[in-house]
Amino acid sequence: MGIQFDAQQKIFHLQTKKTSYLMQVVKGKYLVHLYWGKKMETPLHPANALVMENTAFGANPNRDDKSYTLDYTPQEYPTGCSTDYRIPAISVLYDDGSRVMDLAYVDYQIVAGKPALEGLPATYMEDDSEGATLYITLRDKLKGVDVILSYTVFDEFDAITRSVKVVNQGQEHLLLERVASASVDFETMDYDFMSFPGSWGRERHIERTSLRSGIQSVESRRGASSHQNNPFIVLAGKKTDEEHGDVYGFNFVYSGNFVAGAEVSHMYTTRAYMGMNDYDFAWNLYQGESFQAPEVVMVYSAEGLGGMSRTYHRLYRKRLVRGKYRDEARPILVNNWEGTYFDFDEEKIVSLAKEAANLGIELLVLDDGWFGVRNDDRTSLGDWFVNNEKLPSGLKGLGDRIHACGINFGLWFEPEMVSTISQLYEKHPDWCIATQGRARTECRNQLTLDLSRDEVCEYIISAVNSILDNAPINYVKWDMNRHFSEVGSLKLPAHRQKEMPHRYMLGLYRVMKEITEAHPDVLFESCSGGGGRFDPGILYYMPQTWTSDDTDAVERLFIQYGTSMAYPISAMGAHVSAVPNHQAGRVTSLKMRGDVAMSGNFGYELDLMTFTEAEKEEVKRQVTQYKELREFVPSADMYRLQSPFEGNVTAWMFLSEDKADVFAAYFQIKGMVNPGISRMKFTALEPDAFYKDVESGQIYRGDELMNIGIRVRFYGDFQSKTWYLRKSM
Ligand code: DGJ
Repeated sequence: MGIQFDAQQKIFHLQTKKTSYLMQVVKGKYLVHLYWGKKMETPLHPANALVMENTAFGANPNRDDKSYTLDYTPQEYPTGCSTDYRIPAISVLYDDGSRVMDLAYVDYQIVAGKPALEGLPATYMEDDSEGATLYITLRDKLKGVDVILSYTVFDEFDAITRSVKVVNQGQEHLLLERVASASVDFETMDYDFMSFPGSWGRERHIERTSLRSGIQSVESRRGASSHQNNPFIVLAGKKTDEEHGDVYGFNFVYSGNFVAGAEVSHMYTTRAYMGMNDYDFAWNLYQGESFQAPEVVMVYSAEGLGGMSRTYHRLYRKRLVRGKYRDEARPILVNNWEGTYFDFDEEKIVSLAKEAANLGIELLVLDDGWFGVRNDDRTSLGDWFVNNEKLPSGLKGLGDRIHACGINFGLWFEPEMVSTISQLYEKHPDWCIATQGRARTECRNQLTLDLSRDEVCEYIISAVNSILDNAPINYVKWDMNRHFSEVGSLKLPAHRQKEMPHRYMLGLYRVMKEITEAHPDVLFESCSGGGGRFDPGILYYMPQTWTSDDTDAVERLFIQYGTSMAYPISAMGAHVSAVPNHQAGRVTSLKMRGDVAMSGNFGYELDLMTFTEAEKEEVKRQVTQYKELREFVPSADMYRLQSPFEGNVTAWMFLSEDKADVFAAYFQIKGMVNPGISRMKFTALEPDAFYKDVESGQIYRGDELMNIGIRVRFYGDFQSKTWYLRKSM
């Protein structure tokens, strides 16, 4: 495993537990892609792997060697304005107006472990023995520009990460106009393109289409990774399913504008790429300056989509998420948002806390409306001081009263925003994203603060820190409820205006770093109108994300199933809410709502005081069940068994790391008359081992559970059944 360089053949071989990635320097200049797939030894005939041939109408970069064209050469980091007409990874504009970049291999360096990416979130290693990083320098000699490609191999976690640094070593200034973090050429187009589009309340649904000639891509131009598209794409073999077949996953560790796609060429090859979006992006590089692009996490699996997801989940649980809550059980919470919206006062919140404590809930989260004069969504964002009319004891007093009930206290913030009706906006009208002379379009009655400005970042850090330092707060929900418009900064000079969206992200990451590091005991959950910024960039700072504002149990099956393609359930906030559901208007059983939410970070989001005694008993049962399950489910391997996108049934199961505990859930959306036979068929168990159903005491053999399964019968709509099985001696 690790990284080897065959100096004679100039072959780089990156090996993880189950995969190999091969590149070669050819013609003394080009870094070409040879192979990515199942683990293998370095091939005896690398020339056989290399596709460097001439094509009709292809240009030959070397007049003395007509054997190849760049347009057909699988390249590791292609440039444009030359003779590879496929999508380039990088584009620059030099001061003389020229755009050509002729990158040639210079040298390489291999280091143990994984150095951090300055100012950016990224996966990490705890110990240098966990893998290695390869840096390959490519240079444009004429202009003195270096492009340093970095590849990190996570041996055991079975993943490869890539990023790119552009260094201007030349005399001239240049404008970086496009910079992909990864570009991978595949020699055929025999793949399906999978993406995870959505909308507010409908995040990360699954789309799968055949590749076709031309570009298929997904992107965000909204200033956030967005509800509309996730920075995650998959190329899957045509026959690939959950457990079989080749899959290539690309996930971007970035929370702003991105683009990810696949281009099928005239020669039926495919180029997959991922990086920051060149829409609304340009970066000035003066002599000696460099630009570090964010990271892409690449996973190959020969074991279908399930194999790919489990690899991402393990890596993200252990080597993306950080801090105390990486390894600790997450508390069961109740959030007052759907219970009260803005209509609450101190006594109401304390009574909710008392009820929550009685039911075994561990944390009360006070959502929007506790600050400034905010009684609806028209005012006060930015004015981070308590509303004493609503909360006469202040946050400290309220926190103490909640703790006295025996539970913890959490608080909502939306630090990146400002209401036009606020003291902050009155004082600093220039602190928001805006373009001189243009309207400042409001969305949810608010503007976005310009986090490309240091003083804005400082304000947010000190406002949030001072609240966390002065009240007993154990949890923070960090919300963000609009996208950019009239994109610009009133502080940056004209030639840097296109730097603003990325500078915003760098500012946001600094703010999140400083606040989370100053409060290591606080659990942070991110949110953006639900799951509008569910990406690995944010997960690096905050270990869980509110998956969606849509809390309907049926809708959540789709959202949580789609989200699980890349992200572990330990990253997903999932709450039981009231019926009829506020978003979908649907009435589902409390049991099903609980079973869906238990496949995530479990909680409630309703007014517990409205529950009947029978419903409270069911809540107590759910709370007890989840406390048992959270000992292993959040860190277990997930197996998706039946997809909501394919029918009336959804099923999934979780197998603990030591394979001794199993939690499985089966959901049926519509009731059926004369439904035929339904069974829950388990997977990945030991065929000869015995498993005991903790609830019924029934003992099954593994092969029985996997081959015959357990008969499931339901009556009515919106039904569910769960099993907790323990391997018995
Ligand atoms: C959007 C979030 O997704 C909700 O959960 C809630 O916190 C509201 N914002 C509050 O304004």
